[in-house]
Amino acid sequence: MNTPPLPDGVAWTAVLVAAQRAAESLSAAPAFRDPLAEAVLVHLGLAHPGQAPRFSEMPSEMAGLTRLMGDLVTVRTLHHDRLLTDVPVEQIVLLGAGLDGRAYRLPWAGRRVFELDRPAILALKEDVARAAGLERTAERTPVAIDLADDWPAALTAAGFDPSRPTGWLAEGLTIYLSRAELDLMLSRIGELSAPGSHLGIEVATSLRAGLLAEEFAEDGVGRVLSLFGSGPPTPPHDWLAGHGWRLAERSLAELADQHGRQVPRWFDPSRGGSTVWYFDCAR
Ligand SMILES: C[S@@+](CC[C@H](N)C(=O)[O-])C[C@H]1O[C@@H](n2cnc3c(N)ncnc32)[C@H](O)[C@@H]1O
Repeated sequence: MNTPPLPDGVAWTAVLVAAQRAAESLSAAPAFRDPLAEAVLVHLGLAHPGQAPRFSEMPSEMAGLTRLMGDLVTVRTLHHDRLLTDVPVEQIVLLGAGLDGRAYRLPWAGRRVFELDRPAILALKEDVARAAGLERTAERTPVAIDLADDWPAALTAAGFDPSRPTGWLAEGLTIYLSRAELDLMLSRIGELSAPGSHLGIEVATSLRAGLLAEEFAEDGVGRVLSLFGSGPPTPPHDWLAGHGWRLAERSLAELADQHGRQVPRWFDPSRGGSTVWYFDCAR
């Protein structure tokens, strides 16, 4: 059977993340199950049904980056699952949703999940979900748009209600955007956030600076670095607070420890790696 080509540009990173979630999902003792991620890999010919992806058989760029990323995706997935599940909101907005499978796996009946990303990756997700016969666990509304465009208008037209509190998520996103794009995104989120809203956001210091010389040569590194934008200011505390949020902060080390996982060297400042923060921003 012919398999579709892998998405290109920054959409490729959505597959990279899905591959890591599928690997967790199909591991011997998974911390979560992600049927969408599993189905994505089968659909793209990167894994056989029910079998954990073998990174040795995958495109070398995906395998190389996965070696460097270690348990990052598993740890941050668990953290954001908890955060978004606990916030008392009826609407969730996933910014740069990619192949996030939360609307197919978390017990979010009665909640509305808006997924914002470019059209091609959301179309891929729908093809995968349809072909695999996946059932949604929340009401899911894709909003196919570039975050540089007028997404607040598209989101509102899709049924988002700015008068109600919202759970926003920017996971694996900020590194790909410029400072100007991020300022605009945070201003727009602020304008759409009723009291009681929360924003889960991941921010890292330069991931380029956190790489050792030999890690630069790892397959996939050049590709992902070429996709990075200037990112948010770091440390990001004043920037987030300046946009009107009260901050609760967790380090990757705390979260990894909580879930019994290792911090990958790339993201371990005590070993020369980058610093990664996870914020629960509230208003
Ligand atoms: C690393 S993936 C993360 C996906 C998802 N948040 C997750 O954790 O599974 C980054 C995603 O951001 C999206 N993205 C990056 N820049 C974007 C933009 N300007 N407009 C819309 N989506 C964008 C990409 O298409 C991709 O799906």
